[in-house]
This record gives sequence, C-alpha cells and structure tokens, in this order.
Amino acid sequence: MSDSERSMEEKIGDAVRFIEEEIPYRPEVGLILGSGLGVLADAMEDVTVIHYEEIPHFPVSTVEGHAGELLVGTIGGKKAVLMKGRFHLYEGYDVTAVSFPVRVMKALGVRSLLLTNAAGGVNTSYRPGDLMLIRDHINFMFRNPLIGRNEESLGVRFPDMSEAYSAKLRGLAKETAESLGLELQEGVYAGLLGPSYETPAEIRMLRAIGADAVGMSTVPETIVARHAGIDVLGVSCITNMAAGILDQPLSHAEVVETAERVKESFLGFVSAVIPKL
Ligand code: 6GU
Repeated sequence: MSDSERSMEEKIGDAVRFIEEEIPYRPEVGLILGSGLGVLADAMEDVTVIHYEEIPHFPVSTVEGHAGELLVGTIGGKKAVLMKGRFHLYEGYDVTAVSFPVRVMKALGVRSLLLTNAAGGVNTSYRPGDLMLIRDHINFMFRNPLIGRNEESLGVRFPDMSEAYSAKLRGLAKETAESLGLELQEGVYAGLLGPSYETPAEIRMLRAIGADAVGMSTVPETIVARHAGIDVLGVSCITNMAAGILDQPLSHAEVVETAERVKESFLGFVSAVIPKL
C-alpha cells in the first residue's frame, strides 16, 4: 500500500512498532526542546538513539545543526522520549508532519509533554533572558493539525482548549522555580509562521490582543497533544524583545546568544521539573 493510502492510525502504528523494537521500556514523558536546549540530551541516562530517517513516516530535519534523533532514556529517573531536533512550519513541513511525533509519543505511552522554545518578548516588562511559563496560546499560524477526517481512536472531533497548558503542571513548575530561586514569568504565547520576524505594527496588534511572547513553534504540538489527552507544560525563553520595543533590529544571532547565556539555569530548571511530570 502506498504511503498516502495508510491512515494516520496505521502510520502511527508503523512508527511505534519500529521504535518499540529498539527500546527497553515505554517512556512516560515527552520532551520537545527548542533552541539551545538540545544539550539536555547529554543529561539523559541509559539512552537509545533512533535516527528520524529510520522511523516509518517520520519527517526528516533539514536545518543544519539539528541532529534529527529520537532519544529514549531516563532523566532524574523519569522514563522520557526526547526529540533532538524539532520541525517548524517555516521549514516547509506541513502541520501534520510537525505534529506527527506527538502522536507517536502518545502511542508509546507518554502522558505529559514538555515543550520549550525561544520567543520574542511582546510584554514590555519582560527582559531578554527571562523564562516564561506558557499559560495559554494564540494560534496565529492559522493552521490546525486536526483538519481532515477525525479518527475517533485518536481523540474527539472538537477538542476543548480551555486549559491547553495544564494548570497542575504549571503549579509544579512554579514550585520548582521557587525552590531554585529562579524568577519565572507567566504569559500568553502567540505562534506565528515566520520565518521573517514580525513588524512593529504586528507586535502592537499582538500586545493589544493579549500576547506576552511570540514565536514560531509549539502551537501545532500542543493542539495534537490536547487532542490525544496529553498534559502540556510549555516554557519560553525570551531571547530578545520583539520588533518596535527597543531601538535596534532583531537578529538570529541575538536569539542564539541569549539562549546560550541562560542555558545553564534553563537546563537546571527543566531537569528539576521533569521528574515531577
Ligand atoms: Cl521577535 N518573533 C518570532 N516569531 N519568533 C521569535 C522571536 C520573535 N524571537 C525569537 N523567536
């Protein structure tokens, strides 16, 4: 049967059967980490590495420096599956491909998912280097991974999104931050397609409608996770202020520099949260 004739359920089954042959146990926690946090992979113990290319129906990374590996192992004793290299819509993947790994995680046994990203600060009280717990999102990608025939075995036709980012997990994250003496913002993440950054007028609009941060990921993964009944914890690293706030142009170099600067504390935080998920 050709690839396109297989249903989503069958494709997930193909991927999961392949992965389960390789791994010694089923992961409970999923990790999809944005810019700079891929090094968390080094903190994983007892690791099995599976290259994306080997996994049936898995999209393959294009961005240089993104490894494209699925890692299964433990972090602080927690059985986890980590995506080393994530997929973005701006790379040209469609929204179904971007969120497929979350479907696979669900079928592997994942019950909670930690998503991190680099984001621009829209809230003018934020500073580059701040960490922001995602309380809610605004889907400004205008793509939805659930469009098309709904497979009831995967989730309901019209999933509730009133608590897309679990209040319970946010509570755990706040407790963890407090115990580490780490300051944590909490706000609304607006997901846009990119890859161009926004204009100052777009940022004023986003602020007016309630966004605190803006980025190019996370929203598709969260939608699929909620459809699948997975609890989501989202954390943004504010790597730079969005357009029009400071009298300076935006650059990817600044995003990378800030992500690098806060890597240690972000990693410390994430490593302390994971065992509680
Ligand atoms: Cl300002 N915008 C978007 N869309 N993504 C970002 C960003 C800004 N800064 C880091 N990532």
